[in-house]
Amino acid sequence: MSESVAFAATDKAARYLELLPQLASLVEGEPDLIANLANITAALRDCLPIASWVGFYVRRGDELVLGPFQGKVACVRIAFGRGVCGTAAAERRTLVVPDVEQFPGHIACDAGSRSEIVVPIVRGDRVVAVLDVDSYELAAFDAVDAEHLGEIARLCGTLRW
Ligand code: SME
Repeated sequence: MSESVAFAATDKAARYLELLPQLASLVEGEPDLIANLANITAALRDCLPIASWVGFYVRRGDELVLGPFQGKVACVRIAFGRGVCGTAAAERRTLVVPDVEQFPGHIACDAGSRSEIVVPIVRGDRVVAVLDVDSYELAAFDAVDAEHLGEIARLCGTLRW
């Protein structure tokens, strides 16, 4: 297992292409979920300098509970259907929010956050968590992020939840 990640590309899509195999090798053979999620957040933050916060909210019943993350202290519990995270989980779809002030019910854990993307992690037909990435820049995330973070979410879905 490699214990570091590195990126040669500056282009976002190319960096994601470099990231995915590194993540796969990082989690390969390691059964501990918390360790794997923690390393994935660290690698993603290295890959995405535009991100102010990268982390997981893990499903516990009808709530999402804060999991491993990189960034400032964040809200601990989010009800299914609430905020960007709870909406993405309840609707089981990726939400790209270019301006969080325009998203009704957005939960402001960090007043500096301007845009956000949330990707559900599905195992079987059940949402087990969401991957949340925030930025201090408006419209930091787009379809390229949705595609590649979706692949990372699929990798996360193969972990031992
Ligand atoms: N903004 C999120 C809450 C989580 S923080 O961004 C880390 C939301 O509206 O669900």
